Amino acid sequence: VPAVRQLLPAADDVDVDRAHGLAERPAPAGRPWVMLNMVASIDGATAIDGVSGGLGGEADRHVFGALRAVADVILVAAGTVRAEGYGPPRTSPARQAQRIARGQSAHPRIAIVSGSLDLAPSSPVFAEAPEPVLVLTGDQAPAGRVEALAAVADVHRVGATTVELLEALALLDRMGHRTVLCEGGPSLNGQLLDAEAVDEIDLTLSPTLVGGDALRVAVGGRARARRLALAHLWHDPVDDLLFARYVRR
Ligand SMILES: NC(=O)c1ccc[n+]([C@@H]2O[C@H](COP(=O)([O-])OP(=O)(O)OC[C@H]3O[C@@H](n4cnc5c(N)ncnc54)[C@H](OP(=O)(O)O)[C@@H]3O)[C@@H](O)[C@H]2O)c1
Repeated sequence: VPAVRQLLPAADDVDVDRAHGLAERPAPAGRPWVMLNMVASIDGATAIDGVSGGLGGEADRHVFGALRAVADVILVAAGTVRAEGYGPPRTSPARQAQRIARGQSAHPRIAIVSGSLDLAPSSPVFAEAPEPVLVLTGDQAPAGRVEALAAVADVHRVGATTVELLEALALLDRMGHRTVLCEGGPSLNGQLLDAEAVDEIDLTLSPTLVGGDALRVAVGGRARARRLALAHLWHDPVDDLLFARYVRR
């Protein structure tokens, strides 16, 4: 387990799983608590050559896993599934035990947001999923693709041309899910922000300057400043990553 130093509040090394496991995430009425986890460069890039892998490091993968381990649902947009070659979530036996002790299923459930349903039903994200994958789409999704994906996932239509995010969150709430971890990409994050449905941002700051034209953490929607509160700041002394947890005030 990589040593991560807590800078704020001042403390010695932090147990990442324990800290995220104990953090309070009260679900608002009618929808789950929504947290975003993203890694970004100093200049705000969220990808290098179309993928985020070059920005993180071992401690980032560890924090990423710890956040997944507290989520009931991992919400991700189809663009990120395709770009990052998403597979099923791998939950270590220790994290499975922690989840079960908290009254959760052993593994989080993946929910993919897609209008086109350009997703291969044979891909490991479906075939090897420990919990049935949810596919959230709109009314105009191609019928053949709905049929093909329905054989390997639970497909729900929540919106007309595009998925209505608040409707999708209400659906997850009705299914009993209390904590949603959104893993992007930036266009999905922007829609959640626009819907005022982001309660927490877990931002990994990578000590890199990237340039180029990669998207920033959230894009689209109406620009408006929402002030969050810094709940913690951790430092990874190996790769100089900073982990900031911000929560809605
Ligand atoms: N740094 C990080 O932590 C991080 C995290 C995630 C992603 N990324 C990077 O971000 C990039 C991808 O982000 P992106 O913003 O371009 O794409 P994205 O948000 O991942 O995906 C966009 C796609 O998601 C689907 N979608 C999103 N909202 C929808 C809605 N309301 N209704 C229906 N479908 C919806 C559509 O899929 P269909 O086309 O199937 O309809 C759309 O084309 C990649 O380069 C990835 O590596 C970085």
